Amino acid sequence: MSETLRDKIVLVTGGASGIGRVTAYALAQVGAVVALADVDEAGGAETAQVIQERGGQALFVPTDVGNAAAVQSLITQIISQYGRLDCAFNNAGVEGLPNRTADATEADFDHIMRVNLKGVWLCMKYEIQQMVAQGGGAIVNTASVAGLLGAHSLPIYAASKHAVVGLTKSAAIEYAKKGVRINAVCPTVTRTPMIERGLAAIPEFMEAARRAIPMQRFGEPEEIAAAVLWLFSDDARFITGTTLTIDGGFTAQ
Ligand SMILES: NC(=O)c1ccc[n+]([C@@H]2O[C@H](COP(=O)([O-])OP(=O)(O)OC[C@H]3O[C@@H](n4cnc5c(N)ncnc54)[C@H](O)[C@@H]3O)[C@@H](O)[C@H]2O)c1
Repeated sequence: MSETLRDKIVLVTGGASGIGRVTAYALAQVGAVVALADVDEAGGAETAQVIQERGGQALFVPTDVGNAAAVQSLITQIISQYGRLDCAFNNAGVEGLPNRTADATEADFDHIMRVNLKGVWLCMKYEIQQMVAQGGGAIVNTASVAGLLGAHSLPIYAASKHAVVGLTKSAAIEYAKKGVRINAVCPTVTRTPMIERGLAAIPEFMEAARRAIPMQRFGEPEEIAAAVLWLFSDDARFITGTTLTIDGGFTAQ
């Protein structure tokens, strides 16, 4: 699998932290050239620097994925620098504040939908245009188990991730004949800064979440990265439109 990603040009959004950062490291380790996009300029630059210090190739482009002009310019920059875009991991996301449906705020709704839904759609839009023009590519979107099931006190987040699943499946059938594969990963609670924030804010809820996972532990970002690399690789060449759960058995219950 590793060899099929060598020298591939791969975009990772949300590459300044958590799952995106660890996936960027894993991609660079197998010889991919990694373009990173994030609103966190310090974190994005740090990810790129670590990759370069380890002998890999990385380019950080500060980007707000909710802004169409910024996403279009991101893809243009990648193409002008490397000539193509082989794979894209649309992973940038925000969780919002835990609140039941009747207590959620309009500001939270707008922010979560702008990043998690509009951001993924905008990235797909410009990535797919390039991938169709060059004759193929592979996209992986980060959904969540909250894209498959309801999520208590995270209703807007769950709605945004269900929408990511809908976008993934729809685009997969639209572009299958064009050689563009589009899949989603659906992690359960995974140890990243996003979850450290949750552990600090609502520790009892997080402990209940851990106990609800059959394997009795949270995921590790390296475990999500491994699935993403596999979905990008030629080993997954007949797989498109799938939602791959990485959840210690959570959704099997
Ligand atoms: N950690 C989990 O338990 C878990 C579970 C399921 C799904 N996910 C999803 O995984 C993805 C990565 O989350 P994480 O846990 O690594 O969180 P994280 O907070 O560590 O990383 C998210 C990254 O997205 C970036 N980002 C936020 N808004 C952005 C914007 N407008 N434009 C560009 N970048 C932006 C942040 O700056 C950050 O670097 C998210 O889509 C999240 O919803 C996480």
